[in-house]
Amino acid sequence: MERIIISGGSRLNGTVRISGSKNAALPLMAASLLTEDLLILENFPRLGDTDTLVKLLSHLGVEIGFDGPSEDNTFESVISLRAAGITDTAAPYDIVRKMRASILVLGPLLARCGRVTVSLPGGCAIGTRPVDLHLAALESLGAQLALRKGYIHARAPKGLTGTNIRFSSVSVGATENLLMAASLAKGTTILENAAREPEITDLAQCLCAMGANISGIGTSRLVVEGVNSLHGARYRILPDRIETGTYAIAAAITGGDVKLLNADKSTLHSQTESLSQVGVNFKTVDNGLNVSCDLSGLKSISITTQPYPGFPTDMQAQIMALLSTARGTSAISEAIFENRFMHVPELCRMGADITIRGTTAIINGIPRLKGAPVMATDLRASVSLVLAGLAAEGQTVVNRVYHLDRGYECLVEKLFALGADIRRDDV
Ligand code: EPZ
Repeated sequence: MERIIISGGSRLNGTVRISGSKNAALPLMAASLLTEDLLILENFPRLGDTDTLVKLLSHLGVEIGFDGPSEDNTFESVISLRAAGITDTAAPYDIVRKMRASILVLGPLLARCGRVTVSLPGGCAIGTRPVDLHLAALESLGAQLALRKGYIHARAPKGLTGTNIRFSSVSVGATENLLMAASLAKGTTILENAAREPEITDLAQCLCAMGANISGIGTSRLVVEGVNSLHGARYRILPDRIETGTYAIAAAITGGDVKLLNADKSTLHSQTESLSQVGVNFKTVDNGLNVSCDLSGLKSISITTQPYPGFPTDMQAQIMALLSTARGTSAISEAIFENRFMHVPELCRMGADITIRGTTAIINGIPRLKGAPVMATDLRASVSLVLAGLAAEGQTVVNRVYHLDRGYECLVEKLFALGADIRRDDV
């Protein structure tokens, strides 16, 4: 079982390249199912989750290749996908259970082939993760759905027909599934109360590059004029705003000074706003963002996670690690997922003073965390423990690091290059 060993206290300095966004890459990969032409995605992150989706898409008959560095030779990965002939329309449980974003093949397969069978993704560490919003919206486009033995069986023998859809609550995945399905539906689809995450904007822009007709991009009201078919495209994936925030906190929690290369500040405002209140300094520099912090000045704040453009739930665990040593009492309310505080008991093992009241964690800042053996439970909880270990006195051992490999490209190498005393160990 692999683990990460950190000796805390090194101030991070230098430059780290931000990878392409995991949560944009996954829907963009699924969009390849909508056309028989070649879809090329630049700035592609090589991760556990993207590898899982490569396996699933290959199982469905998509030809996939990895090209070398992109044209400007910046040593980024480029993936090419061609769904010329879809040989299977079933997404099996043993793949879907590994990565719930596999549900994103539902909309495109239904639109392209008129039939699809996808295992219900089931819950995960952070919550039950239902897909009722996806299913209800697809039904309103004319899909016939049946749930049998843990699988969703969806049919649209006469194709899908556009209509007005209002999501009862904001859902990133449901918005993405419906954008892809509606692109090939007959007529107009209006999506109200759509999620506005930058990853959805990336998907909409890529779909338009493939010939889709989408307006209202970036707003909560998306209008899709269905077209008969989509063609291939070459598209560059946007930088990962959650990886960006994670390295910003790595710099801040160690009192360091780090340049985040390729960071896209326009997708970060709620993060930079909250972190600036804590005392983190940001400076826009050539093709990136510089982050620095004076540890003595960390101030407590109160935050509630919200859909974009609010403070992202995917940064909740990371900012909690930083606030553990901020002066005063902070409060973090998790309003998106029902069980996303599993990093709390592990941070407390490192000396943090955190109590949970309902959906709110109350953090009383302490002068310094102490290194300890801790257990990773989900992707973002795991990285918050790494961040805490970077600042803690003594050694921290983070177990079950496979969670981290799902969503962070070369995390140990990137932190080591910034001066962290960190290594991977296989026991
Ligand atoms: C996406 O998950 C992200 N994953 C998550 O990132 C992120 O935390 C989440 O959006 C919120 O921003 C990917 O993009 C691959 P939702 P998704 O549908 O689409 C409930 C990470 O760490 N809901 O916006 O699954 C749901 O239970 C991951 O990178 C329903 O009730 O999130 C949750 O409480 C974790 N019914 C809330 O809505 C539905 O049909 C938001 O879920 C769908 C969702």
